[in-house]
Amino acid sequence: MSFVGAYCNTPLRVNVETKPPLGLIKEEVRKSRYRIKMIENSLLQTVRIYKEYTNGERTLPVLQDISLDIKKGEIVAIVGASGAGKSTLLHIMGILDTPTSGYVVYKGINLTELRAKKRAEMRNRIFGFVFQFYHLLPDFTALENVILPCLIGSSYSNWQKLRKEYTNKAVSLLERVGLGGRLTHKPFQLSGGERQRVAIIRALITNPELLLCDEPTGNLDTKTGHEIRELIWDLNKVLNQTVVIVTHDEEIARHAQRIVRIVDGRILE
Ligand SMILES: Nc1ncnc2c1ncn2[C@@H]1O[C@H](COP(=O)(O)OP(=O)(O)O)[C@@H](O)[C@H]1O
Ligand SMILES: [Mg+2]
Repeated sequence: MSFVGAYCNTPLRVNVETKPPLGLIKEEVRKSRYRIKMIENSLLQTVRIYKEYTNGERTLPVLQDISLDIKKGEIVAIVGASGAGKSTLLHIMGILDTPTSGYVVYKGINLTELRAKKRAEMRNRIFGFVFQFYHLLPDFTALENVILPCLIGSSYSNWQKLRKEYTNKAVSLLERVGLGGRLTHKPFQLSGGERQRVAIIRALITNPELLLCDEPTGNLDTKTGHEIRELIWDLNKVLNQTVVIVTHDEEIARHAQRIVRIVDGRILE
């Protein structure tokens, strides 16, 4: 299965602009108090991230002094033992979670300090997420699952206008990953590999700048995992998709342009 290969019988339509109007975000950036120095070519930086959890009297340090710089178009693998803090780091990168200290910077904008509403807007705009257990909505079809993120931030009238365009794009992408015959299947009617392909397309439908994957092959057999890996790498090749992938599979990590090793919450130099 390949994004560019066997199923490539429909034109690629991922450049269609389907995001909510940019005006608000641009305005926010212009007057932002949070602009900070940008590293050249940097898409996303984590700056001195610490994360700890407090449970009663006890404090558990999970991440310590994590500084990373993700450049446009690269695939970075984050590897480490179970409990090392990989998922915590990925959630902080995708501003699903906040660090105890430190910050996350997207093209010079400090995302960590934005207000909740703006942060959510930026999250939907910048990131696509793929998880180990797919997180598809069980009562919706494959096609509906893919289209749902487009609804976020869209007014009813706007949605009515764009619905057809979104649907065409979703169908086209699903066809490209061999799921043209599964559009109306619900998640329970799909195999693990098919579910993950739907989840990947759902993550791509908003044209994210950065695809964040947390053990995307962790729940799949070796062969299917290999196919999903190839699909993600194809996206990088064909769309220049920037990817951060958390994995404990060294074979997958080996293919990344860069490997970041986390041991006990710290980057192993
Ligand atoms: N919400 C939480 N409250 C307390 N401890 C947590 C929480 N989430 C994760 N942890 C702890 O943080 C550590 C790192 O977790 P995680 O980032 O999920 O590791 P990994 O993804 O590398 O397996 C683990 O010891 C885990 O138990
Ligand atoms: Mg994890």
